[in-house]
Formats: sequence, C-alpha cells, structure tokens
Amino acid sequence: MKELKTGLKLYLSSKKIRSRIDKLGKIISNDFSNKNPIFLGIMNGSFMFMSDLMKTISIPCEIDFIKIHSYKGKKSTGEIRYLNDSTLDITDRHVIIVEDIIDTGTTAKYLINMCKEANAKSISIATLLLKSGLKGLNFNINYIGFEITREFVVGYGLDYNQKFRNLDSIYLIEDKNIK
Ligand code: IMP
Ligand code: MG
Repeated sequence: MKELKTGLKLYLSSKKIRSRIDKLGKIISNDFSNKNPIFLGIMNGSFMFMSDLMKTISIPCEIDFIKIHSYKGKKSTGEIRYLNDSTLDITDRHVIIVEDIIDTGTTAKYLINMCKEANAKSISIATLLLKSGLKGLNFNINYIGFEITREFVVGYGLDYNQKFRNLDSIYLIEDKNIK
C-alpha cells in the first residue's frame, strides 16, 4: 500500500495547530459573548479547522457552511465559483467567516461583500493560515492562526487537486511528481 505522506514534508504539526486553535477559540469566545455569532465555514477547505475551532468556543453560537472555490491545482483562478448557499438568514447578525487559508484575498473579499449585501451586523474573518506578503488588502483579518510563507501547503482540510485533506497536520509538497 502506498503511504499517503510520501513526498510531503511536515510544516505544522497537529499538536501545534490544536494548541493555537485553543487560544483563538478563547479570544473569539471572549469577543463575542452575548452576541450569538454565526460561524460561516467555507467548504471544503475549512471543514477540519471549523470542527476543531467550534469545540473551543464556549458561548452560544450558530454554525453554517457555504461552498465556493477559486483554485485549480496550485493556482488561484481569480474567479469565484459559488456552489452552495447558506440557509441561515444573516441579516443583523454577527458573522464570523471561517477560512482555511487566505492567499490572494479574493475569496475573503467576495465573502465580505456578500455578507455586507445581506446586511450582517458585523463581519469578521478567522483564518487558520495567512500567506505572508499580501499587499493592498482593504479589509481586516481579525483572527489568524499562523502566518506562513507563500509555498503551497496541504493537509488539515487543505487539498492539492482534492487530495490530502484528511491529514491531521499541514505539509509542504516536496516531490514534484505529486499530481
Ligand atoms: P484566495 O482567494 O486566493 O485568498 O484563496 C483562498 C482559497 O484558495 C483557500 O480557501 C484555499 O482553498 C485555496 N488555497 C490557497 N492557497 C492554498 C494552499 O497553499 N494550499 C491549498 N489550498 C490553497
Ligand atoms: Mg481548496
């Protein structure tokens, strides 16, 4: 049987990820106590982060998901495809967008505009990873797990052509033959 992690290099261990998420959960719970926020997970990439983050949230809240994507292989297409809408009404609600990773910021910008148009009371962003060196962002990223280099990473929900999402840590792809 072929080992799943062949050709990958460990970048962030599951232990490091979980301990950072515990801290983020405490901060978010504190910031949103008595606000009954809606956590809006962006599928597919955020499913593992969302699941672990939610277990650290100690205040009343609601959870929903939407499905969009902008990536093909290792490149952003710069164009968002909307695949599945949320069923929750976010009018006048505090929304926390939960992303796996912010790279160019295109997806986050799109989601912020969408929440603004739906008249959310406040819009915050929690991302597990932020690729460094992003310039000209005209929005605030409120909660960041780790700021990372601009290399392509997989695992913990993040994919390369839909593969590697099931890994519990985050890895760099070392082997150029991985497709
Ligand atoms: P953005 O719109 O360019 O900020 O990209 C956001 C989306 O691209 C994320 O939600 C991911 O699905 C995907 N993405 C960006 N960088 C990576 C990466 O290094 N590994 C896996 N997916 C990535
Ligand atoms: Mg993706």
